[in-house]
Amino acid sequence: MTETALITGTTSGIGYELCHQFASNKTNLVLVSRSEAKLLKQKQDLEKLYGIQVEIISYDLTKSDAVESIIRQLNEKKFPIDYLVNNAGFNEVGNFLHTELDNELDMIQLHVTFITKLTKYLLHGMIERNYGRILNIASTGSYIPCPHNIVYTATKAYLLSFTKGLAAELENTGVTITAVCPGATKTNFPKRAGIDQTLLFNYFVMHPKLVAAKSYQALMGGKKVKIIGLYNKLLVFSAWILPKQLINQLSLKMIE
Ligand SMILES: NC(=O)c1ccc[n+]([C@@H]2O[C@H](COP(=O)([O-])OP(=O)(O)OC[C@H]3O[C@@H](n4cnc5c(N)ncnc54)[C@H](OP(=O)(O)O)[C@@H]3O)[C@@H](O)[C@H]2O)c1
Repeated sequence: MTETALITGTTSGIGYELCHQFASNKTNLVLVSRSEAKLLKQKQDLEKLYGIQVEIISYDLTKSDAVESIIRQLNEKKFPIDYLVNNAGFNEVGNFLHTELDNELDMIQLHVTFITKLTKYLLHGMIERNYGRILNIASTGSYIPCPHNIVYTATKAYLLSFTKGLAAELENTGVTITAVCPGATKTNFPKRAGIDQTLLFNYFVMHPKLVAAKSYQALMGGKKVKIIGLYNKLLVFSAWILPKQLINQLSLKMIE
């Protein structure tokens, strides 16, 4: 039987490339993002290119009823979900005194509340069917609490901790959960956060296609956690061993 993956944040960047990873392996897709026009185009392109079935759900995932809305639509279409990819996300950068609180609360809603709730809903079905794989797109920021990026890195630290804990609970079931931690990646994300012209995004970026391929590999290999890319592994390792003050200064320089 053909399997189905639900992926959030598919209209650009890492999520867009992940769709091609699943589709090229003949997995049907449920795509969830805000832009209906982009979703419709994506559905047409993917169905034509790979001969798979693609459903779309256009919704703002920062809304408090986002999970209920998705579950209602999945139930109407009678889709069991075999793969859940929690990818949609964004950033709000700057000194905490001056950043937009509403954006930060939306970020907590999407990166923490929405993911926790959707995972709980879909996990029940996976456990009943004794099969499922969950992929959470965390960040190198999950390991490093960067100044001027504090709410974002805190939400990604939650996601990493949540994944590790749930992975332990899922041992000896047919369900796996994986967190991948990419570093700077050339997507719409830095532009939306106003950090596309920084040292980090000018010199230390990876291509989203490669990030998606490595993430898919980690998921299918049943890995619990994977830091994507050698530079990013070194970055996380240095954050463990170097003095915290130096790491704070370097982090600030990277996104100034
Ligand atoms: N790029 C990086 O440097 C980097 C590094 C580490 C981790 N990550 C993580 O990777 C994930 C994907 O980011 P990306 O770099 O691929 O960024 P991106 O190109 O900006 O893509 C973000 C996707 O999320 C969707 N999205 C954003 N807010 C949404 C909302 N409120 N409701 C529904 N969908 C929403 C966007 O679609 P619509 O606008 O159509 O809704 C888009 O499809 C994020 O979780 C991010 O934190 C990125």
